[in-house]
Amino acid sequence: MERPDADAILLGDNLQVLPRFADGSFQLVYADPPFNTGKRQARRTLATVADEAGERTGFGGRRYRSTLLVESSYSDSFEDYLGFLEPRLREIHRLLAPTGTLYLHLDYREAHYVKLLLDELFGRECFLNELVWAYDYGARTKRRWPAKHDTILVYVRDPGRYHFDAEAVEREPYMAPGLVTAEKAARGKLPTDVWWHTIVSPTGMEKTGYPSQKPEGIVGRMLQASTRPGDWCLDPFAGSGTLGAVARKLGRRFVLVDESAEAVAVATRRLGKLDQESPLRGRKAV
Ligand SMILES: C[S@@+](CC[C@H](N)C(=O)[O-])C[C@H]1O[C@@H](n2cnc3c(N)ncnc32)[C@H](O)[C@@H]1O
Repeated sequence: MERPDADAILLGDNLQVLPRFADGSFQLVYADPPFNTGKRQARRTLATVADEAGERTGFGGRRYRSTLLVESSYSDSFEDYLGFLEPRLREIHRLLAPTGTLYLHLDYREAHYVKLLLDELFGRECFLNELVWAYDYGARTKRRWPAKHDTILVYVRDPGRYHFDAEAVEREPYMAPGLVTAEKAARGKLPTDVWWHTIVSPTGMEKTGYPSQKPEGIVGRMLQASTRPGDWCLDPFAGSGTLGAVARKLGRRFVLVDESAEAVAVATRRLGKLDQESPLRGRKAV
């Protein structure tokens, strides 16, 4: 078994890849598995360019043509979701350092079942938080309260030793700054367990076109609180490589794993762009 020694983006089923790493190799694991929506998650990204012969008419009668830039998808349907997660969560538990933390990103469909599973695997005393990431985007059903949050379960390897640095977390504005002193208002407040944060903007720089891409802002908070500069972080369901991008920007090390060649290609391009801004130290090829 090996210890990670270079930032890496690895292609393969995480259940096959993770056993190669030694116990306690990672200070933080961020895992964002498929949510078991029962659908195939797919995203198409189009680029629109001016073209007299184009099929679309825009402002002032100008003609435009759309070309497909990226088409990505992965399966999100499991007959036995807990049966799929359990052996992977066991591996993740083994890989966490004694001071380490798991952030497991789920939604309302499975979070309660998975919490029971994690209580069993980690021990109830290792449960640290249930984070709610609240956003406000997309269609609103009129048949029930529109679901606009994800659940992130946070478990530590050892409740007596885990690392958590509240002072390192970027503060946020008070909702009612008039109710606190000017000094407090200027400093901002420590985020609570409810995180209001926009989804990845469809037109922003961060967008890769990969389905279910998570915002760097929420993953950044996890790394600020639960790791120190230079610590190793693992994302076994890496998708577009959000954890790698954040780790790179915050001076942490990373191993990303995904079984989809499309995901690995997207993450490699994304990290490559960051490399051009400031070169990665010893990044391993896929
Ligand atoms: C919800 S997406 C992750 C999105 C990612 N957090 C981001 O910000 O782009 C889930 C990913 O898990 C991958 N995946 C599903 N089963 C896997 C497995 N057994 N091993 C490795 N990757 C897997 C899928 O290919 C997909 O890219």
